[in-house]
Amino acid sequence: MTTTILVTGGAGFIGSNFIHYLAAHHPEWRVINLDKLTYAGNLENLHGVDERPNYRFVHGDIADRETVAPLMAECDYVVNFAAETHVDRSIHDAGDFIRTDVYGTFVLLEAIRDASRPRRFVQISTDEVYGEIESGSAKETDAIAPRNPYSASKAGADRLAYSYFVTYGVPVIVTRASNNYGPRQFPEKVIPLFVTNALENKPLPLYGDGLQVRDWLHVDDHCRGIDLLLHEGVLGETYNIGGGHELPNLELTRQVLRILGKPESLVAHVADRPGHDRRYSLDTAKLRGLGWSPKVPFDEGLRATVAWYRENPGWWQRIKSGSAEYRRFHERHYGPRS
Ligand code: NAD
Ligand code: DAU
Repeated sequence: MTTTILVTGGAGFIGSNFIHYLAAHHPEWRVINLDKLTYAGNLENLHGVDERPNYRFVHGDIADRETVAPLMAECDYVVNFAAETHVDRSIHDAGDFIRTDVYGTFVLLEAIRDASRPRRFVQISTDEVYGEIESGSAKETDAIAPRNPYSASKAGADRLAYSYFVTYGVPVIVTRASNNYGPRQFPEKVIPLFVTNALENKPLPLYGDGLQVRDWLHVDDHCRGIDLLLHEGVLGETYNIGGGHELPNLELTRQVLRILGKPESLVAHVADRPGHDRRYSLDTAKLRGLGWSPKVPFDEGLRATVAWYRENPGWWQRIKSGSAEYRRFHERHYGPRS
């Protein structure tokens, strides 16, 4: 029988890349994309896969039981990408994060419990649930210590999913990935924001001293990790997915400017993010034990990503100049910083 997979948040950055990945690697699978199309959802991201006969888009909310229940009844796998995802937005207003990231995940879990159909539910969590890591790298067995409203909401969903495995036997796997980069990332996140600002010769607003460290994972490597776990992950387990490429933000910014041939004078040090986690770092031995390792070298991945934004100006200009919501957030967030 044909495998059916429900991808939530499939119009966003990682979800859309995952649907492109599925079309390439599991072309026979039926794919249902459930997305609310918030400010971060964009159906343009599905260009090239949306006309496939085995692809279906459902415009809806993961927190709406009536939308979700009938979909569960037809699915073998569910991968839950749908979330509010931007830390800065969660600092201004956490309400939507709690509603979607926590309550929405609860609705999905309840629907699976009722349907007893899907064989696997992958909850896409984040390395941010560990909080900042001064030294060493976080293992899946380490305590979680989220420190901002986004990561606290994701931690709630992460442990709620696990609790449904323990309590009701819902077939849950949790993944915690590090910072993703690649094509089609919404230009509020640091790489697409800085690349597109540099292309427009606008300042790059680097928070604080810029020495905060993030671990960079190419979105294609992330997709391969999720696919492997759909097939070989152990139910009830949590898996870190990290790129193994840690970089201070200042160095990342310099690399972007070098690739674009733009001057360092574009860097503008601005007021720091409140509660800014200094460093994230993942121990990925558990996933590597299943045969996964990141394949995209960071330098190549970053060059290709920069090239994508350079070659697709319409995509990001429609957001940066065309969306009143984007301009409002930008003014509210960066206005007082500049
Ligand atoms: P994104 O913001 O680009 O996309 C989120 C998508 O979810 C959008 O299409 C949006 O419309 C949709 N959505 C939001 N609320 C919804 C709701 N209530 N119902 C249905 N759809 C809804 O996010 P992303 O960067 O692609 O992240 C995807 C997932 O991966 C998230 O769960 C995020 O927490 C996690 N994650 C992201 C990263 C990263 O670096 N981007 C790293 C680790 C984990
Ligand atoms: O670590 C995984 C997380 O990575 C995901 O769970 C989140 O969904 C995703 O948004 C991302 O969170 P970050 O906060 O790390 O990503 P962001 O791109 O917002 O910021 C990356 C780093 O760059 C962080 O240290 C803050 C800094 N930064 C960011 C912006 C937007 C700046 O210095 N200036 C900026 O304008």
